Order: sequence, then C-alpha cells, then structure tokens
Amino acid sequence: MLPEQHDILFSFLAIAFALFGIYVFINVIQTSREREGINIKLWGGIFGAFAIGCFLMTVHMFDLVQADQLKFFFSTYILVVFMMLFFWGVFFKSNKIEGQSPPIIRGFFFWTTVSVLLAGYTNWLPQQRSDPPPKAAAVVGDLTMEEFADMGRVIIFGAKQVAGQKSIGKGQCPLCHTFDPGDNMGRCPNLFGVEERSHKRVKEDRYATSPMAIGELEPASGITKGKPAEIPEEYRRQHGPDELVGEDYLRESLMCPTCYVVEGFGKDNDTKSPMPVIVKPPISLSRVEVNAVVAYLQSKDTPGEFASVTVPLPQDDAGNTGGAVAEAPADDEDRPVFVTGKEDIQAMINTLGCPLCHTIPGVEGAVGELGPKLHEKINAPKRIKDPNYKGKATNTREYVRESILNPGAYVVFNEEAGESFPDGLMPTTFSEMLSVQALDKLVDFISQTEPPAGS
Ligand code: HEC
Ligand code: HEC
Repeated sequence: MLPEQHDILFSFLAIAFALFGIYVFINVIQTSREREGINIKLWGGIFGAFAIGCFLMTVHMFDLVQADQLKFFFSTYILVVFMMLFFWGVFFKSNKIEGQSPPIIRGFFFWTTVSVLLAGYTNWLPQQRSDPPPKAAAVVGDLTMEEFADMGRVIIFGAKQVAGQKSIGKGQCPLCHTFDPGDNMGRCPNLFGVEERSHKRVKEDRYATSPMAIGELEPASGITKGKPAEIPEEYRRQHGPDELVGEDYLRESLMCPTCYVVEGFGKDNDTKSPMPVIVKPPISLSRVEVNAVVAYLQSKDTPGEFASVTVPLPQDDAGNTGGAVAEAPADDEDRPVFVTGKEDIQAMINTLGCPLCHTIPGVEGAVGELGPKLHEKINAPKRIKDPNYKGKATNTREYVRESILNPGAYVVFNEEAGESFPDGLMPTTFSEMLSVQALDKLVDFISQTEPPAGS
C-alpha cells in the first residue's frame, strides 16, 4: 500500500458503517411506530444524528490518505459507532423491548467489528509496502547485472516503503539527493543524468585543479584524487584503462566527496563537500555495496538497459562471477527505520541519520555540515528569545522536541554564511521513526549538547 493512497479496506468499512447507521435509524423508527408510548421524536432525532454523523465521517475519510484514515478511523469513527450501539441498547432497554434487532444483523456487526480491530492491529503504523525481496542477501548462483543494479537501488531507497516517509535505504542518499528530472531540493545535486555527467566531469579543467589537484591526498577520506590505482585495494576499480573514466568519478564521489565539489554545492567557496564519505561510519558501505550503488547510478536513467554499467558483478572466492557474495547485508535493512529507545543513544542517532547533517558533540563521526552545529544547551535559549521565534517552546527541552518533530517551526540563521539554513531540508518524519521513550531519550541528549571545551 502506498502512503499517498486511500486504504481500500478502511474506505469500505467506512461505507459499511454509514449504511449500518442508516439501518439502525430505520430500525428505531419502525420499532417506535409498531409500539405505543415511545417518544419517536427524541429517539428519531438521536439516531438520525448518528446516521448523518456516520455519513459525514465517511465522506471525510475520502479526503484523507491512508495513515490519516487509520488515525481518524480509530480515534473518532469507531468511538461514534460504539456510542450509537450503546444508545441502541439503551433504546431497547428503556422501552422494554425484548426482541431487539434481528440476530443476523448483530452477528454481522460483531464480525465486522472484530475484523476491523484485528485489521487495525496488524495494519497499525508503520505501514509497509513490500517490494520483491532484495536480491542482496547471500546471493548464490547466477546474479545478473539487472539484479545487481537493483541491489544498488535497495541500498539507496530501501526495500520497503513506509507510509508518510521518504523511502530511504542504508545509503541514506535520498535524505539529500533527488533522482528525477526537475525535482530539485536545492542543497545537493539532482542525480538524474549523473552517468552521462560522470564521463564529462573527469575531462573538465576544473576537475584537474579544483578544489585540489590530481595526485593530492584528501585527508578526510584518505583518498588520493584522480588515482584509481591507489584507491584501497578492496574498493579499487577492477578492470579498464589507465585513464580516468566515468566509473572512477562516481566511485570517487562516494569515497572522497571533497576530491571534486560540484559548483555551487560546496562549503567555503566550493572547497569542501558536505556529503559524508560513504565507506566510513555512519553509512559504511562495503565494496560490493559501493559497486552495486555505482551499477544503479550507471543504469537508472536507461531502464532495462545495462550496457553503460562498467562495474563487475560480485565474485566468489574462486573468482566466479555471479557466485556467492560474502557480505550479505543484515536483514534489518528490510525493516522500516524505527528506534524503540532501548538502543544506546549513539546507535539511535546514527540510525536516524542526524550525523549526516549535524555536528553533534559527543557523537563519534557526527560532523555533518548541512544543518547547524547542535549546541542546544546554548542555542535553544537564544532561539526562544529571538523576536522572530514563532514556535511554542518555552524551555530548551521543548525547543529541541519541537525542532525534531517540526523543523519548520523556526528556521535557524547561519551566521557564518550570512543566510538562513535551508528550510525543508531536515526531514519532517522523525515522529514516525521514534517511540515515545526514544523521543524523550533523544531530547534529553540533544538538550545537553554544548561546544566542546576549549573551542
Ligand atoms: C548529507 C547529504 C548527502 C548524502 C547523504 C549523500 N550525498 Fe551525494 N552529494 C551531496 C552534496 C552536497 C553533493 C555536492 C558536492 C559534491 O560534489 O561533493 C553531492 C554529490 C554527489 C555526487 C556527484 C554529483 C555530480 O553531479 O557530479 C554523486 C554521484 C553523489 N553525491 C552520490 C551520492 C550517493 C549515491 C549517496 C548515497 C550512497 C549520496 N550521494 C549521499 C550530499 C549528500
Ligand atoms: C537532511 C539533513 C538533516 C537531518 C538528517 C537532520 N537535520 Fe536537524 N536540521 C537540519 C537543518 C538544515 C536545520 C536548520 C534549519 C531549520 O532550523 O529547520 C536543522 C535544525 C535542527 C535543530 C535546531 C538547531 C538549532 O540550533 O536551533 C535541531 C535541534 C535538529 N535539527 C536536530 C536534529 C536531530 C536530532 C536529527 C536526527 C533525528 C536531525 N536534526 C536530522 C538538517 C537535518
């Protein structure tokens, strides 16, 4: 089920309940007519109101998408239906009517209610849409390039889509990048057409000199620019010519983002890339995974066509292409991102991806630069005092909670750059990835962050 759609089951049940509301109304009117001494206006009014209410709620359900339908159904609709049942019972009791409604109706209603509750229980958020199982796990036998590129797609977008969330896999790329023509988030290049670009980039004069020259060592990644033969052996390109090719550019983009910074997307005059080194924590893709991602990038713009892919298929120890892949990813990539609060705080923060955009004191490897440095012990009180602050927080914890659940409530000004940080870049979906305890724990931790001593 896709998050943007109606849920057919719940739309159907809403209609069924609306019809049931009308049935109850008619039943009450008939019963009242058949007997003496019943206040037909009173009871007709009550059940008429219920019937109209059910009808209006059903109409409202059609304006909602799946996740909201579920919420509305369980928080409001079902309660109204239970109230109606209760009043129906009161009606029969107060008028001393023994027979009540036909058993078949009550049986049907009971069955529907039980199945709704069961369906609701199994359907309760997070909702998932299953793709065909990812081909990544312990591949034995023949792996085609199509399957290998699909493994790359799963690393980027995840195997399952969660209602109301962007689909994001282990590689975390869609946090920052877009992939479709014309879809620009602004802060990071759209990766549509990157295969074609990769061949041109390595021929540009700018590539040879900026922000560093070919042959120079980039310290953050430990990679020497433009020297495919000097890339650590396990990640090295496996065949092909000595000169730089498109594959080298893509590989280098992932392993050493600062080796070349796309114009207008870097920090400090395009001398530093805000993109994390993909083979280091927190993302830490393995060799096979990097190759799969490159295979995906090289083939995604030509569906069904894999001629432009130059990375090799993974090999087993005997060198057989398509043989066993040693690095079978753990199966937790199949699950939607969710933290319960039982994890330690570092693991929680890494799972959620905050370090990709934020520098967070006390979290190893959290040196992201797309968002403000999290020094909330000092920052939060400043933000609340800012005359432009329109949020609801009155103390640090509330401010941090608000920033996580509703980043748009206050958009931080970047003093170094002299402009606001980008609004809309920080995901607005963390509420769906966090249990109540996890959110508390995260807020506790972030509220205590301050600049490291001596800086
Ligand atoms: C924290 C945000 C962020 C994440 C996560 C991220 N990137 Fe990037 N990426 C950037 C930025 C910013 C640039 C532009 C600066 C540069 O050239 O390094 C970039 C550049 C690139 C480029 C070069 C594009 C071009 O037009 O030449 C490629 C390819 C790329 N990223 C691929 C990926 C892939 C694949 C992933 C996931 C495995 C990923 N990125 C994850 C921010 C990110
Ligand atoms: C894709 C990048 C991105 C990710 C991932 C991200 N953020 Fe942010 N965050 C930003 C940006 C950009 C801002 C500044 C703009 C704004 O205020 O909305 C920001 C602002 C904040 C602020 C307000 C900071 C201040 O000093 O006022 C807090 C707190 C925060 N983020 C916490 C988090 C936490 C916790 C996580 C992980 C659960 C997270 N962010 C994940 C980009 C990101």
